[in-house]
Amino acid sequence: MSHVAEVKRKKISTQTFLQMKKNGQKISMLTAYDAQTAEIMDESCVHSILVGDSLGMVVLGYETTLQVTMEDMLHHCKAVARGAKTALLIGDLPFLSYQISIQDAVRNSGRLIQEGGMQAVKLEGGRERAEAIRAIIAAGIPVMGHLGLTPQSVNKFGGFGVQATTALAAQRLLEDALILQNSGCFGIVLESIPARLAALVSKRLDIPTIGIGAGAGCDGQVLVAPDMLGLFSRFTPKFVKKYASLHDTMREAFSSYVADIESGTFPGTEHTYEMSDAEWEETIKLIKE
Ligand code: KIV
Repeated sequence: MSHVAEVKRKKISTQTFLQMKKNGQKISMLTAYDAQTAEIMDESCVHSILVGDSLGMVVLGYETTLQVTMEDMLHHCKAVARGAKTALLIGDLPFLSYQISIQDAVRNSGRLIQEGGMQAVKLEGGRERAEAIRAIIAAGIPVMGHLGLTPQSVNKFGGFGVQATTALAAQRLLEDALILQNSGCFGIVLESIPARLAALVSKRLDIPTIGIGAGAGCDGQVLVAPDMLGLFSRFTPKFVKKYASLHDTMREAFSSYVADIESGTFPGTEHTYEMSDAEWEETIKLIKE
């Protein structure tokens, strides 16, 4: 167990996020989808864990996040909640779980809290989500916004490219950020937008911005864990810093395992159970009879 894990930490809340912004303290966030990874993140003192719908791409093998369902999200939220006790846990509302009606938005947010064990929810979009955000917050559920590259709109954008690169789009994004803040969001993820725009938005807001591909001027950063661990290898966005090479490490381990079995090196005597000679002799006698 690491040194940091031995220090008992106070549960992080959405209020902690707001206080950290006031104090000029940077916020760290990572995505997780299972209990063990969440536990390790808690040991590492990560401030917040997002059970992102990136689940669809980095765990479930889909091309986009659009196939992820509420049941998928609940399954993985429950696992993360069992693993992490300190980090603020945020559950992503999947595609079509909040866009069709305000009732759906509130009910599905409530499920992520009540069944999934999350403390807050995240949804994608700007002004068009203001009414749903206010209704979810009125039910006592903290909401995080998400602007810029919103992957549930991949078909509208025509890919996963950088957003808000024109003056008009940048102005609209700032307006959306202010609308999300006025609607009650406790924070906003800014994904794949120019760094100077993200820095300006972060300065104009009282609530923290969490950047992913949005530069160092945000109040915090989030990365998709399998990206930063070098585990997800299908493609790596420019903004990902790889802190490990787990894909290579795992492939080497699996290949060595196969080679050990083929050569008879595994299992060795240290991996093998035995019985006493007396019991074995008795066994032979019984079998012979
Ligand atoms: O689903 C996700 O992992 C996300 C992050 C990229 C912010 O929304």
